[in-house]
Amino acid sequence: MRKKIVVGNWKMNKTYNEGIEFVDEIIKESLSHSTDDVLKIIATPYIHLAAIANKLEHLNGFEVAAQNCHHNPKGAYTGEISAAMIESTGAKYVIIGHSERRLYSGENNNLLAQKVNIALANNLTPIFCIGENLIERNANMHLEAIKIQLKEALFHLPSKDFIKLILAYEPVWAIGTGVTATIHQAQGMHNYIRSEINKKYGKEISTAISILYGGSCNTKNAKELFDCIDVDGGLIGGSSLIGSEYLAIVNSIKK
Ligand code: 13P
Repeated sequence: MRKKIVVGNWKMNKTYNEGIEFVDEIIKESLSHSTDDVLKIIATPYIHLAAIANKLEHLNGFEVAAQNCHHNPKGAYTGEISAAMIESTGAKYVIIGHSERRLYSGENNNLLAQKVNIALANNLTPIFCIGENLIERNANMHLEAIKIQLKEALFHLPSKDFIKLILAYEPVWAIGTGVTATIHQAQGMHNYIRSEINKKYGKEISTAISILYGGSCNTKNAKELFDCIDVDGGLIGGSSLIGSEYLAIVNSIKK
């Protein structure tokens, strides 16, 4: 059985105290819900990582993630954070390849491949994002776009490392727009991603890897998306910023 996972990506939101309050609230609320079979990961700004990792340490099924890491191990890169630094906070996950970093920070597949390597070398699990933009979707090039991202950023990995990844399909046109992929579009793409993985790494790995959906996923549409056979959970932006909404999305995963 593939792991069900719901990642909340705060992006550049929440001051230090707001982040701590959020976690205190979900700790309290989750004690009255049983969601142990869903892995819940909160991807916070760097400032929260150590404190939240500490708070979540003894809480079953909760983890904290960084939203990025540098591709070099250390050195004169002012303002950057290394994978080893993230690991030292107690975080075990890192988002890599988010479309906002591809767009605003010019991160390409080649650089992202290096980030994946260094994250794995530091025992961090990459939550790797792939997704086509609107031009690619409208030109019916969405499958090709995803194929290239997989090939250039991830398919250099040996099987023993590829199996450690969590993938997230985030169509760029659905992120923060209120336009969600239909269940047909989401299931179709997740199935395609799995078939590409099958071609490269074989059936055992392609059926074992969790693929999350992200892009305007909320309390209203989460259930129908998560019910798709190849959708193993979500990567949630805006709707993960309020504790009760985030937990409602977690609870909409079929047990
Ligand atoms: P929204 O849920 O706000 O559309 O963001 C999705 C996302 O980018 C999560 O990483």
